[in-house]
Amino acid sequence: DSVVLAYSGGLDTSVLVGWLMDEGYEVHCLYVDLGQPCEDRDAILQKALDIGAASSIAVDVQEELCRDFAFPVLQWQAKYENIYLLGTSIARPLISKVCLQRAREVGAVAFVHGATGKGNDQCRFQLAAEALDPSVKIIAPWRMDSFRNRFPGRTEMLDYCDAKNIPVKATASKPYSSDENCLHISYEAGDLEDPTVDGETVIDFGMSVSPQEAPDAEEQVTIGFEAGVPVSVNGSKLSAAGIVAELNKIGGRNGVGRIDIIENRFVGMKSRGVYEAPGMTCLYAAHQSLEQLTLDRDLVHLRDRMSPEVAEMVYYGFWYCAKMDALMAFIREAQQPVTGEVTLTLYKGNIRISSRTSPNSLYDEAIASMEAGGDYNQDDAEGFLRIMGLPLRVQGSVRPRTY
Ligand code: ARG
Ligand code: SIN
Repeated sequence: DSVVLAYSGGLDTSVLVGWLMDEGYEVHCLYVDLGQPCEDRDAILQKALDIGAASSIAVDVQEELCRDFAFPVLQWQAKYENIYLLGTSIARPLISKVCLQRAREVGAVAFVHGATGKGNDQCRFQLAAEALDPSVKIIAPWRMDSFRNRFPGRTEMLDYCDAKNIPVKATASKPYSSDENCLHISYEAGDLEDPTVDGETVIDFGMSVSPQEAPDAEEQVTIGFEAGVPVSVNGSKLSAAGIVAELNKIGGRNGVGRIDIIENRFVGMKSRGVYEAPGMTCLYAAHQSLEQLTLDRDLVHLRDRMSPEVAEMVYYGFWYCAKMDALMAFIREAQQPVTGEVTLTLYKGNIRISSRTSPNSLYDEAIASMEAGGDYNQDDAEGFLRIMGLPLRVQGSVRPRTY
């Protein structure tokens, strides 16, 4: 029988190649390129073949990740627990999808991933895979006694690689675990498990400088949107992944987009995580500003009430489902007027909105102005408030006096 392994080339998934073969499987390795740093992709793919994989290929899904996953979530202004931009969560259903595509190509009987039994990622991989193919078989070795007993720790894995001639990069192991794609890098576990330990003293950040190290001068960046979709940076039209990459550079060099949180995992435990998402943080700020100019009040209030629900669904892994499809149809319609440009001024980790402009602006200077004029009659406020205040006056005459 053959299986498809979501393969990163790291220690864990390299061991998995050997272990799956020991278990009698033919292993097809799939390296899903989400923009994670990869010193030498050919070497990573060749390594799987050297271990004995039946096939080892890479597929680049960075554009799809940004265009079809990250941007709709951005349009929702979805943030898990008000702050996390969901960079890892968003990528998981896409990994499942391409692994299932590969499984069909090679006639594999199962999809194997290296996520642990304590985390969110196993939920997202599995829920997405089952939604796409209800008959899918998933092998999650970290949830199997036989695997955990054989590899209780890193030492056993290194010994195994030694015995099997599996090359291991002699990188000093970092005192935390990270997950990276073109949207963000997450850091958790290890030394970061102690919530009193300052992440800045532990983490070797990969996408951003600290605000302290950022230049002493402000930098402006202008982001263009069409119907809520980011389309340009500083006047240059770019692809979805191109926009994210460009803003990662600009935001990153100005120390933008780092957060440190205690979050509630889907499996119930609290977990401490540090994240850097310089480009997406710029996009959320610019997009929100353009919405302020172009979206109807009641529509955006409704969206804002539903947004935490979308964030929760993305975080838990409910991506491929009727509810999400309907929510995505809603946001696509709601975003139609969100066209225009926003100029951000970045300075040492801060983002200021400097300017916003749209052909669909609902902002009417004549109406809003304190100066006379515009289609607004102050006398009308008299009746408006008499009626709005009616229930309050009735209650006020009944409730005991509190002043
Ligand atoms: N806590 C974040 C999330 O659930 C990041 C998970 C990181 N995953 C990893 N395999 N290191 O989205
Ligand atoms: C893991 O447990 O595999 C990583 C952390 C997570 O999925 O939340």
